[in-house]
Amino acid sequence: MSEIESVLHEDRRFPPPAEFQRQARLSSPAEYEALYRESIDDPEAFWGRVARELPWMKPFERVLDWSNKPFARWFTGGKLNASAVCLDQHLAGARADARAIVWEGEPGDVRTLTYRELHAEVCRFANVLKSRGVQKGDRVAIYMPMIPELAMAVLACARIGAAHSVVFGGFSAQALRDRIEDGGCSAVITADGGWRRGSVLALKPEVDTAVDGIPSVHTVLVVRRTENEVAWTPGRDVWYHELAPKVSADCPPEPMEAEDLLFLLYTSGSTGKPKGIVHTTGGYLVGTYLTTRYVFDLRDDDVYWCTADVGWITGHSYIVYGPLANGATVVMYEGAPTTPHPGRFWELCAKHGVTVFYTAPTAIRTFMRLGEEHPAKHDLSKLRLLGTVGEAINPEAWMWYHRVIGAERCPIVDTWWQTETGAIMLTPLPGVTATKPGSATRPFFGVDAAILDERGNELPANQGGLMCIRKPWPSMLRGIWGDDKRFVDTYWSTVPGVYFAGDGARRDEDGYFWIMGRVDDVINVSGHRLSTMEVESALVSHPKVCEAAVVARPDDLTGQAIAAFVTVGGGVAIDDALRSELGEHVATEIGKLARPKEIRFTDALPKTRSGKIMRRLLRDIAAGVETVGDTSTIEDYSVLAKLRGDEA
Ligand code: WTA
Repeated sequence: MSEIESVLHEDRRFPPPAEFQRQARLSSPAEYEALYRESIDDPEAFWGRVARELPWMKPFERVLDWSNKPFARWFTGGKLNASAVCLDQHLAGARADARAIVWEGEPGDVRTLTYRELHAEVCRFANVLKSRGVQKGDRVAIYMPMIPELAMAVLACARIGAAHSVVFGGFSAQALRDRIEDGGCSAVITADGGWRRGSVLALKPEVDTAVDGIPSVHTVLVVRRTENEVAWTPGRDVWYHELAPKVSADCPPEPMEAEDLLFLLYTSGSTGKPKGIVHTTGGYLVGTYLTTRYVFDLRDDDVYWCTADVGWITGHSYIVYGPLANGATVVMYEGAPTTPHPGRFWELCAKHGVTVFYTAPTAIRTFMRLGEEHPAKHDLSKLRLLGTVGEAINPEAWMWYHRVIGAERCPIVDTWWQTETGAIMLTPLPGVTATKPGSATRPFFGVDAAILDERGNELPANQGGLMCIRKPWPSMLRGIWGDDKRFVDTYWSTVPGVYFAGDGARRDEDGYFWIMGRVDDVINVSGHRLSTMEVESALVSHPKVCEAAVVARPDDLTGQAIAAFVTVGGGVAIDDALRSELGEHVATEIGKLARPKEIRFTDALPKTRSGKIMRRLLRDIAAGVETVGDTSTIEDYSVLAKLRGDEA
């Protein structure tokens, strides 16, 4: 049952542009092959050498202890501090006065912090936490807008050895409460509010509801950003700006064991309560440090912008830890991509001279629909490398990104990874790998990726199956907070002893991986198991279609039938003629088998707040049943209501 048929054909290939390759950190395929081989054949030598590039307070004794499978221990005996890796190590040299963070608020206010300045701010923040009794070993919830203090709060926790648990600022009070309780957090760091789509999104009221009656929370530390009125609980609530001037800007970093908890980050499974993914200090830093260095090819003069929110793993690994460990200049933006105008992202790229840009397919598809005239108004000539993460990118969206944003000059790194993996797992190396639109290409160093069936057999080329990792890697999750059994059952039991986290994929004849979506989403039409992602890609390749989500619906004849939810461009007439045109298109692109039985048009698709399409909800709608299970992560409930036809 684990096999999936692949019907997508993609023959376009894009070798690294010569101009890019000339100056890339890695540009020789032979060198890459040799390093990759070493990383698989002798991972301890490879990772030991990489790890020694970081500033340890005490050297590690052993690279990997895998004796208590699947609970890995990396770099045991070693001590380090994540905030010192990100900040202190740069103070001795020329990077001290380089920009660490270039931040822009949605209203257009700009703040710049050099490494020296960020270091001082983080030390102060850490001392504020200490002054409130936050200690090594505590867990601290962070619920903030995308302002520099969010990065400071994260690093301040790391500095004193408290684990952070960042909860995305768009989550509800209930979601926040569940996470605070599960993690047993002793303090919450928040702000009065943040700017989002032209207005203030208040955060403090959500926190007040969330912590009400939770005895473990002794402090709510509030950063002032929007100056909206907030309710106040004396004794518990404190303003950051009132405490900060009272503490010193000197705070030595706490020496931490490599396997000490660095953070929890909750990820919602399709059912059940959210899982607190556990990441520890040494291995996570080694993984994010190395991937950032090679995947984004970062150099001192780069201006790097990852558009994710720090509330997601992408923000943890590729706004905060990875780039700062490399001494990079990081752009951070508070607001919505299209506020106050549809070209805001491109305006920001031009204004700050962004050279490396990393975003999500959902954003790219939104920009496609908004039209090429918006990026055309801004000077994007400084861009040299583009990246995507979060979902499979449809080849059409990839081509648009390549042509319109990258001016056919920038390599695209399509990076596949997960909250659980901590760092990028499948990715092109931009100076080495020829890319194919829609493929995350090949495994990163040390990643032993394979397409397996449930018995653990490796499947032949182009046969879809389970996307598995056979060897441990430094930034891997160490568990689910408080639930070892769930950790083993969820990730290590589908194929016994091998890591599998839910995605289907195939590997082509060149060894390139193509992610086919979650295996839970696979559709079985007359005994053929099809990937939703491939049918969606076929729909999106039609010029009138912007986005598509494809799900299975029960069908008397075929077992399951394909139902498609489609959004079209402005001015496109929605009628049965369009329905049959799209059906025909899918039939010619990938075959009659994949022709949707039903096509529904919609203004928007239900998505998680990080931009992933919620196919599970669409499945219920297509089947005409009530939605069961967790919907707390949905971005916009009115989309659901409209799809169901019960306009809320
Ligand atoms: C999906 C985000 C295809 C995948 C870093 C994975 C992708 C889940 C890609 C993890 C990609 C992420 N191509 N699918 N390049 N990147 N995914 O935990 O289904 O928010 O399992 O981590 O996103 O999502 P998460």
